Amino acid sequence: MTEPLVELIGVGRNYGPIRALHGVDLRVRAGEVTCVLGDNGAGKSTLIKIISGLHPHTSGSLRVDGEDRHFGSPREALDLGIATVYQDLAVVPLMEVWRNFFLGSELTSGRFPLAGMRVREMKRIADQELRKMGIVVADLDQPIGTLSGGQRQCVAIARAVYFGARVLILDEPTAALGVKQSGVVLKYIAAARDAGLGVILITHNPQHAYLVGDHFVILKLGTAVLDAQRGGVTLKDLTTQMAGGDEIAELARELERPS
Ligand SMILES: Nc1ncnc2c1ncn2[C@@H]1O[C@H](COP(=O)(O)OP(=O)(O)OP(=O)(O)O)[C@@H](O)[C@H]1O
Ligand SMILES: [Mg+2]
Repeated sequence: MTEPLVELIGVGRNYGPIRALHGVDLRVRAGEVTCVLGDNGAGKSTLIKIISGLHPHTSGSLRVDGEDRHFGSPREALDLGIATVYQDLAVVPLMEVWRNFFLGSELTSGRFPLAGMRVREMKRIADQELRKMGIVVADLDQPIGTLSGGQRQCVAIARAVYFGARVLILDEPTAALGVKQSGVVLKYIAAARDAGLGVILITHNPQHAYLVGDHFVILKLGTAVLDAQRGGVTLKDLTTQMAGGDEIAELARELERPS
């Protein structure tokens, strides 16, 4: 097995008196999709905020390429190739597709303050990179807000791949999408995996996870209650665990109607 790109050992995070995450171990490897599942409030977002440098962990250790890290900002994580695609924050809706692709990393010629943007080149690269991932956008000049939610996610993924991400974190990328669009996004997740990235996929949906996942972690109240490789778990196991297993049986009893 290759050395993990990112490794969490006994990681925890408190928000004041609230223990959002406790003693979590996780290994993210190149060319694999690691799925993190869990109910609302399980600690999924907290976990990825630690890896993406948004909120530092308060216990345990975070290693990138085997080296201990304590990120002070998302920039530090990004500089090590850890990119995060958030459901809503990925794009600026009113800006063109190609502008969004280069947002914050525009190509310029000359020096500030007279620097000109190399528009034609940026359009060409955006077009080429989107095609490489199999994403077809009719017109790169259209505002990205006119694309579907699924297409927007795909542009954000292609962008992260182009700018050299080695670890790609996706927080609930299919949560707001229908079946067909979810399928498109899952295809790009698979493409990013095949390009050799280590992908962390956060989701509520065990079916989506099982379609692309190599490794599954289920969080409950901030701790991992399941940690298995693909060979060691079935879709049914994931679904039962996610549905709450015993809790659902109890709920069924409580909701039983008097006959
Ligand atoms: N900034 C914060 N301040 C205080 N408590 C927080 C903060 N962020 C998260 N929490 C708490 O930490 C716990 C885990 O939250 P987190 O957002 O990580 O869950 P999640 O698994 O992402 O849930 P969801 O599926 O609803 O997105 C929750 O109890 C939440 O209330
Ligand atoms: Mg969340």
